[in-house]
Amino acid sequence: MCGIVGFIGKAPEKVLLEGLKRLEYRGYDSAGIALKFSDRMDLFKAKGEIKNLEKIVPNETTARIGIGHTRWATHGKPDETNAHPHVSSDKKWAVVHNGIIENYIELKTKLNDFGYDFYSETDTETIAKLIEYFYKDDCNVISVLNKTISSLKGSYALGIINKEQDGIYFAKNKSPLYVAKCGNEVMLASDIICFKGFAEEYYPISDGVFGYATENGIEFYDNLSKIDVAPIPLNLGDYSNLNTYKHFMLKEIFETKTAIKNIIEYYSEKNNINKFDGRDISKINRVKFIGCGTAYHACLLGADMLRKKAGLDAEAYVASEFRYQDVCVDDKTMVVLVSQSGETADTLAAFELAKENGAFTVAIVNVEYSTLAKNADIYFPIKAGVEIAVASTKAFSAQLSVLNIFAGLVGERLGKNSDPLYDVRKLFECFDYGNINDFKLLADVLRYNDSLFMIGRGDDYYIAQEASLKIKETSYINSNTYYAGELKHGFLALIDDATYVIVFATDKNVFTKTVCNAEEAKARGAKIILFTCFDLSEADAENFYYIIKVKELGNSLQSVLNIVPWQIIAYYTSINKGINPDKPRNLAKSVTVE
Ligand code: F6R
Repeated sequence: MCGIVGFIGKAPEKVLLEGLKRLEYRGYDSAGIALKFSDRMDLFKAKGEIKNLEKIVPNETTARIGIGHTRWATHGKPDETNAHPHVSSDKKWAVVHNGIIENYIELKTKLNDFGYDFYSETDTETIAKLIEYFYKDDCNVISVLNKTISSLKGSYALGIINKEQDGIYFAKNKSPLYVAKCGNEVMLASDIICFKGFAEEYYPISDGVFGYATENGIEFYDNLSKIDVAPIPLNLGDYSNLNTYKHFMLKEIFETKTAIKNIIEYYSEKNNINKFDGRDISKINRVKFIGCGTAYHACLLGADMLRKKAGLDAEAYVASEFRYQDVCVDDKTMVVLVSQSGETADTLAAFELAKENGAFTVAIVNVEYSTLAKNADIYFPIKAGVEIAVASTKAFSAQLSVLNIFAGLVGERLGKNSDPLYDVRKLFECFDYGNINDFKLLADVLRYNDSLFMIGRGDDYYIAQEASLKIKETSYINSNTYYAGELKHGFLALIDDATYVIVFATDKNVFTKTVCNAEEAKARGAKIILFTCFDLSEADAENFYYIIKVKELGNSLQSVLNIVPWQIIAYYTSINKGINPDKPRNLAKSVTVE
């Protein structure tokens, strides 16, 4: 959610643009950079993707320092005026910011009283003006920064430059920020993926810490005391590039099988699977699964797996709701936080609440250097590799696979006899990507629909929710999900002969009942598309407008076989509609604002 990058060294304009491209998953409403020359500071801003900014930034400059930003708008519409960097009234300070300053109106009002005018609708401009205000009476920038961040409430990762100084100031609270150096060059970034090819190690910045980087080194401060920060080796594995694929979304879908293989390899190691060693979980009497969006859908299925494999009371919660509910969390509660990025603000806030209440916390994450991975009592990596496309695909399947292992391990600990890896191994043996031509044909049909209905029961319903989210975010079709049995309780009123109803029916225990519910919609004119893993007689098949058949796995990881086709269908529907599936409108990956 907004990406910031800073650079001291040769050709900052190139490094910043490359860094911003790597951070574009964090937002692409607008972008900007500030370049500091020996005698001046130049600003470049453009609406939309980084490629628009690239067109206006000069190719070779003599600048040695710069900061850049790619935006996902929170305060003020996405235009050039609201694009970062934001500057002080005397134009000496430039600031890039990721996060939300919750008390910016209060600060702005005070600064207004002191004679400061504002040109943008952003909270960030307040920071630039606050620094200018403190700097007027105190030329020690470290003290100015300390006063500035002490005045801010909310989240921030900040990169700050001054037109007369040869360095970059930075500060962090609840938004990710890292810094790295190589020789006398320094880079600051919201994600360590920017350091790939630049440095072998990086410095994590803790909440509340700020500092100053120059060609001579990096200084970190906590309040006004200098602190030491130990570097961490940069271990990113393969940074994703498109290879022969046109989009990351498709490439990542087709990396699902590799992710499952990685999971089996990783969790086959005794040291990796024995996560609960030295932990007494016998007193745990309930488990709460928490996530947002796709990760929440994984939680719904994860809770189901745990109930089945460990017989424990387990529920799934949307992270942004969990904080405001009476959730009954205590030291007998295990809270499982599922997040691809490990940086989602709502999930982190739920995590903090769980910790405050004494819960045992488990993180299921992809990004292993993330805040969630670092701070949970234990974490289970999902080993999916870098995920770039905004719509999460391979990470969802990897989350389900690891949740299945997790549920098996908890069951084992509680005395149930199971092999935690059994289901995942079976999934790997059975896995295929299905009949792509069938999926493409359906995507050709769906492109003309403004709305869709998806129904199912149990796990099929959860997968319908995830399939529906994929269709919505990549194709902008208003896809709605209902429990199959609920149609008759009101929703049938929406059905007419232009309606497509997709029936998820891969659970043999409820197959007939679910299909009967679809018949109710068919009787009102709806076209029924059946999604199943069972063979149908010719006569039965005639009831359906279209049938998609997947393999039958016979365990709870059937959900992985069920979701992959819908990721592919969503991708091709998006392509049919001329939408870039990697960057759907209004969205960003890694949502670091609440
Ligand atoms: C949808 C999608 C989002 C994320 C959600 C949580 O395709 O990607 O719904 O799942 O923003 O993100 P993480 O998993 O990073 O916490």
